[in-house]
Amino acid sequence: MTSVQTPSSQNALERSSTYTIAEWQRGYESLNQEYSYPITEVEGEIPAGLTGTLFRNGPGRLEVNGDRLHHPFDGDGMISAVSFRDGKAWFRNRYVRTEGYLAETAAGKILYRGVFGTQKPGGWLANIFDLKLKNIANTSVLYWGNRLTALWEAGLPHELEPHTLETLGPSTLDDILKAQDAWSAHPRIDPGAPDEAPRLINFSVKSALSTQVVVYELNPQNELLQQKSFTIPGFAFIHDFVITPNYYIFFQNPVTLNPLPFVLGLRGAGQCLDFRADQPTKVWILPRGEGEVQMLETESCFVFHHANAYEAGQELVIDSICYANFPIVDPDTEFREIDFSSLPEGQLWRFHLDLAAKTVRHDVITTRCCEFPALNPQHSGRPYRFVVLATAAIASGNAPLQGLLKLDLQEQTQSMWSAAPKGFVGEPLFVAKPDAVAEDDGWILCPVYDSAHHRTDIVILNAQNLEAGPIARLHLQHHIPYGLHGCFVPDLFLAESDDAA
Ligand code: CO
Repeated sequence: MTSVQTPSSQNALERSSTYTIAEWQRGYESLNQEYSYPITEVEGEIPAGLTGTLFRNGPGRLEVNGDRLHHPFDGDGMISAVSFRDGKAWFRNRYVRTEGYLAETAAGKILYRGVFGTQKPGGWLANIFDLKLKNIANTSVLYWGNRLTALWEAGLPHELEPHTLETLGPSTLDDILKAQDAWSAHPRIDPGAPDEAPRLINFSVKSALSTQVVVYELNPQNELLQQKSFTIPGFAFIHDFVITPNYYIFFQNPVTLNPLPFVLGLRGAGQCLDFRADQPTKVWILPRGEGEVQMLETESCFVFHHANAYEAGQELVIDSICYANFPIVDPDTEFREIDFSSLPEGQLWRFHLDLAAKTVRHDVITTRCCEFPALNPQHSGRPYRFVVLATAAIASGNAPLQGLLKLDLQEQTQSMWSAAPKGFVGEPLFVAKPDAVAEDDGWILCPVYDSAHHRTDIVILNAQNLEAGPIARLHLQHHIPYGLHGCFVPDLFLAESDDAA
């Protein structure tokens, strides 16, 4: 596949400066208040057929009593829920009451070090040999088997009450996990064959000199159908994975870990990773059933997120967001001051793994800066045609995410909607229309930080016509700090007070 061409009509959007850093930064102010209200300020019309709940997670608190966190990934998880019914919508947000959130709130100061460099006040003396991390429950939120959980990859999920978002506490998922286990924030749902029930597939990683990967498959009743353990040689930083009907696929980025600065209290663990441009990225192909573990090497790149994977004869096709190296914020740089142009941009690459010839080749689908791939969930692990991504407003180089890009991977065409210069987008999600037949017959739901009004809009677009712009913009009464991942479920979780509204 060759690169998708940018239509000339898009070029007007692609000015050299599509944002100001000051306007972008305000989206990282903490939101300390917790709200619950019907959304009454709506431009356009919420589709009457859109029924269900959009759950989102992300760091909501970016400082504790004026002490700033070093990196947003260290911020406490805050869940937002937007419920849709009969063309109306309701909003609610609530912090996950983790042990660390409660302790730091009570103490009024930072008590824990963060993986991405947040240190307790007091310099290295206050941090040396303190290896205790807090489960910040800030990365994603999942509703599966009548259970809502906030996810963070290095610890147990936190269970939440779905109507009120109250925290019920860390969960072992009915003893599937043990207290010290991890549970990734990137589960995949295998929709199964037409006559099969869907499965939740998730993993945990424990990594040091070698890496233990455990993969779990659960049915919609939350019963464990399968659990498989694999050992991968060497250290691995694994945030996401992909599935197909026969495989779990993990990318082992070429990074090494030197834990000494972390142990000595000088750096966060995530700042002790060294990217090795001279080493290959290893792709681990793990069998869901019987069969051998296979490993194929490809050129050096760094992957946080995959879009999708599928089987095509003897080939596995994997679409991933690839960075030229590990995009880490310098330990001495405040993250709000980052120079976007100094960091590599994510690009969508397609890997072709020939399992018989044991070779890998890749195409660059688009060089345009992008992240947060979304697709019709019915095509997860299966052949698919459409992907929607958050993208920069400039055609090349790294910049904040300000638009949405839809790629037709079959016809090699693209379409775009831009919220620049005042808007900054989060992760889009695809929601199929009721009775949809076409793969892209649905809506895109996306949070957009509107710096002109210092508030967040929940934006709804027709997935078949992004260029037409939003069919509805729901203005929240406040902003939501830039978030990470979420999910949409057709279930409604209105509390009694919401229903009366
Ligand atoms: Co992620």
